[in-house]
Amino acid sequence: MKSVASAPGKVILFGEHFVVYGVRAILCAIDKRITATSQLLDERKIRVRSEIGSVELDLDSSSNLGSITSFMKLFLYIARETLKEFNEEKGVEIVLESEIPAGIGLGSSSAACVAATASVAGLFEKKSKEEILKKAIESERIIFEDASGADSSVSAFGGLIAYSKDGVEKIDFKNNLSLIIANSKQVHNTREVVSRVREFKNKNEKLFSEMCEQESKLVENALLSLKRNDLRNLGLLMSKNQEMLEKISVSTEKIDRLIEMASKMSYGAKITGAGGGGCIISLVDQSNVVGTLENLEKVSDCFVAKIDYEGLRYL
Ligand code: MEV
Repeated sequence: MKSVASAPGKVILFGEHFVVYGVRAILCAIDKRITATSQLLDERKIRVRSEIGSVELDLDSSSNLGSITSFMKLFLYIARETLKEFNEEKGVEIVLESEIPAGIGLGSSSAACVAATASVAGLFEKKSKEEILKKAIESERIIFEDASGADSSVSAFGGLIAYSKDGVEKIDFKNNLSLIIANSKQVHNTREVVSRVREFKNKNEKLFSEMCEQESKLVENALLSLKRNDLRNLGLLMSKNQEMLEKISVSTEKIDRLIEMASKMSYGAKITGAGGGGCIISLVDQSNVVGTLENLEKVSDCFVAKIDYEGLRYL
């Protein structure tokens, strides 16, 4: 028997980095998914295969997860813990297939984590989104201790959410939000960028805490703008958020250029995710989508993303 589950990637509309220090962030799941297919193996092994690499663990040998440095160890951990939970003596294989490019801030690792957790657990029972999310965040933190849990939460629930370490609020937004995602093609490592921001915070405690307050206000305003479907104001707030991200040095020259091109016609543009490369998002509607795409296509690969309202899906 095979167990298949898929989960969407995400963009962060407001609050990346500051969310790690308790500020609320606003996230949106997008229509690009990762699918995980699991099946039990007679041999006592865990095997994980994906386009970006493969990894294997012999459950009977003395080698343990600690010796594995690749980020793929996350999936070995998910599989091993699930086998233990259900007292299963067999091994398991997980195959990951992705529509979300890795390392560009679109939440591919969190989506993979949510999909893999649901797919392996689904060999035994179909768990709720809440239960899967709890396990996925716990697993993600074995490789990335500082992960806020925001990316996995929006991937599990879909739609738009406001996320803080205190929990998830689903945002009741049923309009069509059109975002253009443009790729800087600079691959980043979220963990490294997050730890650089921690250094910045440690050196500038007072400034950083003022910035957290400003970001919180920005997020409150953004929630009001979403309620009123006020794209113009939402875009302005996105551009203000970009200025904050520039102040904490997570922008790059390439990103600045993309922001400049996107800002010519869209309502607003900013980094999405950790920065240090990765992608930007710009907010558009029918009146400016074509013009913004034309401007961005001169300097990058880009596409229009829509909201995924479903989140985690069992197939
Ligand atoms: C990464 O997509 C978002 C960050 O805020 C890190 C996190 O929330 O775990 C940079």
